[in-house]
Amino acid sequence: MTIFDIEQLQTELADKNPRTILKKALALFDNIAISFSGAEDVVLIDMALKIRKDIQVFSLDTGRLHPETYRYIEKVRKYYGIDIELLTPDRDMLDSFVKAKGLFSFYEEGHQQCCGIRKVEPLKRKLAQVDAWITGQRKDQSLDTRQDLPEVQIDTAFSTAERPLIKFNPLLNWNSAQVWDHITAYQLPYNELHEQGYISIGCEPCTRAVLPNQHERAGRWWWESGAKKECGLHAGNIKK
Ligand code: ADX
Ligand code: SF4
Repeated sequence: MTIFDIEQLQTELADKNPRTILKKALALFDNIAISFSGAEDVVLIDMALKIRKDIQVFSLDTGRLHPETYRYIEKVRKYYGIDIELLTPDRDMLDSFVKAKGLFSFYEEGHQQCCGIRKVEPLKRKLAQVDAWITGQRKDQSLDTRQDLPEVQIDTAFSTAERPLIKFNPLLNWNSAQVWDHITAYQLPYNELHEQGYISIGCEPCTRAVLPNQHERAGRWWWESGAKKECGLHAGNIKK
């Protein structure tokens, strides 16, 4: 797909509902994958399976997820009877990193290097095998980095000169309440941590519960400023 095609597609999908965006994404691309981790992503899986049975789903297993998150992944796998491909970090890179920096370097040096090895490199490997991917990002998750999310975009962080990679964000205009309405109405599986005050959930050492009225991403990498709260999965969101 050229930039021109994407601009046309974006115009066609602008302000459309998540189902319409997903339907178009799944019709245009056979080799397309849903990236799964949070509450939003089970909504995407639920909607996608009603459109097409052979969906691809993957999750980045950083090795530092909460036990509850592993249980959530398993719950979703069984509930839908689908494969969820778990992507693990490169062993050599991880070994040398942990040997040099230990297990908690992100509190002193920032999360970029650890996320680079545990999330971004495995994601890059996966994205090299697909033509497009689908994420559960929402605009209102971040005033700093997600306000300008489009329905569809060329993924500038993971495309190569030879292979443009397309990224769909079907839930961009939904808020958290709409996601939870859907989960409740259809009784979908969710991460038990949501019952303990967690909203946005990443790795265990880098996620904490939030207080009432705190922003949902306040519990992610809480020792860093808002503008840096992207781990590299969605690096294209950060304005140069
Ligand atoms: S993050 O970049 O800060 O970690 P966030 O938790 O907001 O992302 O999730 C936004 C979307 O990124 C999710 O809906 C999902 O599509 C994708 N994502 C985030 N973390 C993972 C993960 N561990 N595995 C797969 N996809 C993920
Ligand atoms: Fe490492 Fe924290 Fe990033 Fe997980 S979120 S990969 S533990 S820095």
